[in-house]
Amino acid sequence: MTKRRAINSFAQSRAAAIAGLVAIGAFCGIQRAQAASTVQPAPEPSSRSVWDGVYTARQIQRGSAVYARDCATCHGPTMNGGEAPPLAGADFLAEWYGYSAGDLFERIRGTMPQTGPGSLSAQEYVDVLAHILNVNKFPAGETEMEGLREPLKRIRVEAAKPSRKGPN
Ligand code: HEC
Repeated sequence: MTKRRAINSFAQSRAAAIAGLVAIGAFCGIQRAQAASTVQPAPEPSSRSVWDGVYTARQIQRGSAVYARDCATCHGPTMNGGEAPPLAGADFLAEWYGYSAGDLFERIRGTMPQTGPGSLSAQEYVDVLAHILNVNKFPAGETEMEGLREPLKRIRVEAAKPSRKGPN
């Protein structure tokens, strides 16, 4: 064997080895994908948190009008409380961390305004919820929050921005 042929055949066998590895890798990948799809359905289309811009600026305009009309007399003009507990600030949030926007929505719709629970439209309730989230300093976004149970349940009320956990 000349020197040149030796190099060639070395290159060829290396190429073959790599091709083999790639094929084995692809095969394993397929096996794994199949296993995963037969074991469990994909997790719920991933939930979001109140940090993800879950309501719009327009919505808080409407919501603040609802608030002024139906909530402010008891909860205070700035949600700082009065004859009713505050709806903004650390104490209020501490009660709701770990729950969903849907839980808060149901709580409000089921019991508020105290003088007429359930008397507002779903749209008014979700708008006032957007206003509450806004006063609690969660950011607005591009998509309106819908007054529907299921999508609202997938929005978590979270203490800290997920990417910024740690001492503050
Ligand atoms: C007539 C007075 C009154 C009005 C009007 C009123 N609330 Fe309340 N609200 C209360 C009182 C009193 C409580 C505490 C007792 C209770 O939980 O039922 C409360 C509790 C709450 C809570 C629970 C607070 C917590 O710490 O978890 C929320 C949220 C709330 N109200 C939202 C609203 C919203 C939104 C409106 C307007 C649509 C509204 N309330 C209108 C009197 C009122």
